[in-house]
Amino acid sequence: MKAVLFDLDGIITDTAGYHFLAWKTLAEKLGIEIDKEFNEQLKGVSRTDSLELILKKGQLKNEFTLAEKEALAASKNEEYKQMIEQMSSADILPGIESLLVDLKNDHRLLGLASASQNGPVILKKLGLYDLFDTIVNPAELSAGKPDPEIFQKAAEQLGCSVSECVGIEDAAAGVESINRANIVSIAVGDKEVLSAADKVVIATNELTADLIKRIWTECHEIN
Ligand code: BG6
Ligand code: MG
Repeated sequence: MKAVLFDLDGIITDTAGYHFLAWKTLAEKLGIEIDKEFNEQLKGVSRTDSLELILKKGQLKNEFTLAEKEALAASKNEEYKQMIEQMSSADILPGIESLLVDLKNDHRLLGLASASQNGPVILKKLGLYDLFDTIVNPAELSAGKPDPEIFQKAAEQLGCSVSECVGIEDAAAGVESINRANIVSIAVGDKEVLSAADKVVIATNELTADLIKRIWTECHEIN
């Protein structure tokens, strides 16, 4: 195993609640109700795709021009940016900082494969930016998660083959993306929602460098 490819929201820090609140505010302005269950579909999904899902839910899919949709997505992002303004290293999820440091000390490469265009800013606020060897720019992708492109790109940017990587995700769309890239997948969260992953753990503090290396080795022994 040469590299570990990380999702951001829900793995490195818990911004999922902020994304949900910002979308909920926008949806309410449009007369659309969204709840936590619906929000599961938005996890890992790009800003534009999330807006499309919300408009579809409110049966408003064909009611806006492209420019209007861009303005709606931009207003959600402005609200989200205000919410993340105060983030600091205190917002790193349990066990993640020591995991990243352990992996670096063990000479593994670290990549960020997040759908969020706010990824670099958030990593800087958390004080983790310098630990990453590469960050995929989601604006340059032709398709978002569950398409495999983002994880394939992360491996490529690190100069690794997909077989040398492990991907870590908290969203069903993200696990599908890793699996379709033929990368070993580890998921954090609900075992039923994330059952497609090679390994599911309940919380980030269960992720250790030893566990990740062991899962990678086991998956390659089987195949
Ligand atoms: C993903 C989140 O990481 O990034 C999604 O799980 C979010 O909820 C997506 O929509 C895009 O984020 P941003 O910051 O570019 O709007
Ligand atoms: Mg996530």
